[in-house]
Amino acid sequence: MSVEKKTPVAVLISGTGSNLQALIDAEAGRSYQVTLVISNRPNTIGIAKASQQNIPTLVIDHSLYKTREEFDSEVIKAIEAANITTVILAGFMRILTMEFTRHFLGRMLNIHPSLLPKYPGLNTHQKALENQDSEHGLSIHFVTAELDGGPVIQQASFPIQASDSVDSLKKTVQKLEHQCYPDVVDWLVTGKLKLKNNQAFFNQQPLLKPLQFC
Ligand code: GRF
Repeated sequence: MSVEKKTPVAVLISGTGSNLQALIDAEAGRSYQVTLVISNRPNTIGIAKASQQNIPTLVIDHSLYKTREEFDSEVIKAIEAANITTVILAGFMRILTMEFTRHFLGRMLNIHPSLLPKYPGLNTHQKALENQDSEHGLSIHFVTAELDGGPVIQQASFPIQASDSVDSLKKTVQKLEHQCYPDVVDWLVTGKLKLKNNQAFFNQQPLLKPLQFC
């Protein structure tokens, strides 16, 4: 696929950017191209890695803004200035304003390390262990105003073993994340995946339950 035909996407990160790297590595044969990486934190590994690969990067340090609204509006401006309409959150550790989620509604995805609606927010691996869950996994969802609450598109799950720890769960979840996210981003940019009236549609059919990755 020629670069001109690819849809540019902005990836928003706050740290390591392993999902960002998985998205970049999977670009060949897919219809998206990561053309901007934004981090709200300076000196992240993700930004350094993207720069090494000659991908435009921006640090918009949230601590320099008085309000969430001011920070979010700066991020919107930067994305628009780059002529990008699709936003992929990949470990972006910020609560988004209503304005931001409305602006990119139906054009923004997030990946979350739990089987939503279980465990929105932080410490998901710890919570799965504490509750002695029999399985754990990840969810990819449309971003709406509700934190980690938008319609779920795809999930991947696996059984929790007695020997599992927070670290081992994190590792297994991340390995699966890297396999799942590129296809879902591809579905979004090709129009296979849509959001209408707070409902996800896949191949023009309402997704009554999340797609299962296996
Ligand atoms: C991922 O596990 C993702 O589910 C969560 O944040 C983590 C980001 O990891 N939203 P990385 O920066 O992509 O390595």
